[in-house]
Amino acid sequence: MKATRLFTNIGVAAGLAAMVLVGMLSSSMCAQAQETEATLSQMGLAISPVPLNMAGKDPTQVGLGSYLVNAIGDCNGCHTGGGPPNFNYAAGGNPYFGQIEKIDPTVYLSGGQDFGQVGTPTGPMMYAGPDIIARNLTPDKTGMPEGGHTLSQFLQIMTSGTDFDHLHPTCTAAQLAQIEAGTTPLPVCIPTSTGNTANGNLLQVMPWPTFSHMTQYDLEAIYAYLSSIPCIEGPSDTTSVLHNDCGSGGVTPPPATITIVVTGPGSSTSGTTFQTNASQVSLNASQSTSTNAGPLSYSWQPAPGFPSVAIPGGHTATPFIQLGRPGTYEVILTVTDSTGATATATITLQYL
Ligand code: HEC
Repeated sequence: MKATRLFTNIGVAAGLAAMVLVGMLSSSMCAQAQETEATLSQMGLAISPVPLNMAGKDPTQVGLGSYLVNAIGDCNGCHTGGGPPNFNYAAGGNPYFGQIEKIDPTVYLSGGQDFGQVGTPTGPMMYAGPDIIARNLTPDKTGMPEGGHTLSQFLQIMTSGTDFDHLHPTCTAAQLAQIEAGTTPLPVCIPTSTGNTANGNLLQVMPWPTFSHMTQYDLEAIYAYLSSIPCIEGPSDTTSVLHNDCGSGGVTPPPATITIVVTGPGSSTSGTTFQTNASQVSLNASQSTSTNAGPLSYSWQPAPGFPSVAIPGGHTATPFIQLGRPGTYEVILTVTDSTGATATATITLQYL
């Protein structure tokens, strides 16, 4: 009797210990997952080549979206409005020329790259359908991306390739006959044949089959990011699919130029590199300015990939950076103005 009770108690105790352990494990895993998302989000905000309109948005979600668009999805590689020789890069900022990367914000995701025809040459005209052109992904005056698509439309585009604009339907039998007869102008449709049954209702070239494997969480982050980038009007011809109605003043961010000025110890070797002999460095960004009126807010974060630092006052213009031991450190400063426009700067600290 006594032995049995003892056994039962041990069983209960072991069960409790296991529960506590599981609890600890899952909460530390959770903390790590959050840390990873925060890191990706910070990197995303740091690499966005355009100012972002954060009004009403979750900066962590927008940052993650920027990371997915700018570091992984290469959306601007295809959706840039820029042409040769620099395409998506600014003149003088073309990494393929050995220059320091600078993405051209004036054509960022505004569409227009021509990927040629995808249909089957049929009949005497050898017509393979209209050229497939990357679309303008910037938000319109409603603030919704790619010219006003809703989140649910966007999710469907990214997972099923639906072309809501029906720009290039599959040719009907009558249209095929027109093509054979050499009618001008040729109908705008994709001709198909046995062995090439391209479905004109689906986006062609666009890697939606790959993107369809992203989680909804990630796709929503991309949507949030695309909602926060500046509207680019594209061609003024309102019938062009690349034209986007930015409205006047509307919800698109007013053009803002945020100039970040950081002062620190000693003489800075460049605007953003400081050398120090002390383990605690005070930085001051209070001379930063924005072309928009109103106060600026500041957020300082350790840069991913560098030794970690503590940053007391990390949400003020004048933080202290606590360095562990001699070496090179980087911190990322994000400055946000009263309209939600942001700019970032990377500050290098060399602890001698
Ligand atoms: C390999 C080139 C390429 C890449 C990379 C690419 N796209 Fe596309 N995308 C296209 C082309 C081309 C079209 C238009 C296809 C058509 O007309 O059939 C398109 C269409 C779209 C559309 C439909 C727009 C509309 O108005 O219906 C969306 C949304 C889109 N892309 C988003 C993205 C996002 C987000 C990324 C990055 C995660 C991305 N694309 C990366 C080439 C690309």
